[in-house]
Amino acid sequence: MTMRLHFLILSFFLIRGIAAPSPRKYEHIFNFGDSLSDTGNFLLSGALAFPVIGKLPYGETFFSHSTGRCSDGRLVIDFIAEAFSLPLLPPYLALTKGQSFQHGVNFAVAGATALNSEFFHEQKIGAILWTNDSLSVQLGWFRKLKSTLCTTKQDCDEFFKKSLFVVGEIGGNDYNYPFFIGGSIELLNSMVPLVVGEIINTTSALIEEGAVELMVPGNFPIGCSAVYLTLFQSPNKADYDPHGCLKAYNAFATYHNNQLKKDLEMLRKKYPHTKIVYADYYSAALRLLHTPMHHGFYGGTLQACCGGGGPYNFNFSARCGHTGSVACENPSAYLNWDGIHLTEAAYHYIAMGLINGTFTSPPLMSPALGDK
Ligand SMILES: *[C@@H]1O[C@H](CO)[C@@H](O)[C@H](O)[C@H]1NC(C)=O
Ligand SMILES: *[C@@H]1O[C@H](CO)[C@@H](O)[C@H](O)[C@H]1NC(C)=O
Ligand SMILES: *[C@@H]1O[C@H](CO)[C@@H](O)[C@H](O)[C@H]1NC(C)=O
Ligand SMILES: *[C@@H]1O[C@H](CO)[C@@H](O)[C@H](O)[C@H]1NC(C)=O
Repeated sequence: MTMRLHFLILSFFLIRGIAAPSPRKYEHIFNFGDSLSDTGNFLLSGALAFPVIGKLPYGETFFSHSTGRCSDGRLVIDFIAEAFSLPLLPPYLALTKGQSFQHGVNFAVAGATALNSEFFHEQKIGAILWTNDSLSVQLGWFRKLKSTLCTTKQDCDEFFKKSLFVVGEIGGNDYNYPFFIGGSIELLNSMVPLVVGEIINTTSALIEEGAVELMVPGNFPIGCSAVYLTLFQSPNKADYDPHGCLKAYNAFATYHNNQLKKDLEMLRKKYPHTKIVYADYYSAALRLLHTPMHHGFYGGTLQACCGGGGPYNFNFSARCGHTGSVACENPSAYLNWDGIHLTEAAYHYIAMGLINGTFTSPPLMSPALGDK
């Protein structure tokens, strides 16, 4: 080896040594959920109920093409993967097509419910489900994959020690479907223990499979979402909070979140060797609504960027991607993307607030310094 080459190699290691001093906190991420975190499963499964997800403007901001993400760009789970220097998670249904999954897999499916689809079929509202790939189906996919990840218990413990499991957000659709066809808040209150029970049972099942680091997000303030604001418009000013959100629906989301937090506390006692993080999506989103200008959201907080008119730019006859809808010029100036889902810019802020610990309790482990 020449002196010169030797010097080059040495300086390369010195520079790298300074830039990346610490090992990665997580080597793998396994994610379960719905459209808030689906990175392509619903599209790969056919997306019959929502085919526009397969074309622009979905994906326009970051990917320049549609990926099956329900946004203009990246989602919270993408920003979390980036923060831990991991590749964006491949959707589980792409694995058969030869995708690499050594750093984790995404099982989330847009439209998925926490409760099994049979529950909705029994209630005679099964026909409106976008997908039957509920949380238990996603858990089944994980179990199937697990045998290819590790074999002995020791092997698996070692593997999962370096894995982050994200369970949710999930449950929002269990409420959306009945709300959108006229279910009352009183009726839906009775579903909350079932939905939370399913999330808790799945979280326990993952712990029994070997998970030790888990994050479980709550629901968003749905009373601030353009679809709820459009469907449940009220002439009564008292129904709205100072930010223009529907109080009763935000109270409903809070009820779900409080139940979830309480039951997670039970799980922490039952499994003291684990770390179970609650991710407060509700407060993270409200923070953006309360100080939109401070975060660069000058275009609109309650109005969707992409839509077909109406006071919240959400129109059931011209939803984002359909004829009669247009996307705004600058999605990063908007919180709401298509009336239901948020923009990449909003997801970015929310993810940062989870990673830096402002909206996670206990805090999500910070990415190693030097990683970006
Ligand atoms: C879900 O399952 C039911 C009953 O098996 C079936 O009729 C329906 O088509 C399925 N829905 C979807 C979206 O795959
Ligand atoms: C959760 O698990 C418990 C214990 O196995 C069971 O009794 C309960 O019915 C389950 N709840 C749901 C919602 O599946
Ligand atoms: C909603 O979309 C339909 C179909 O494009 C259109 O005729 C209607 O005017 C729109 N409504 C509003 C409030 O813009
Ligand atoms: C954490 O992230 C939030 C949301 O992006 C931000 O508002 C806050 O200033 C950050 N806090 C710290 C301590 O970095």
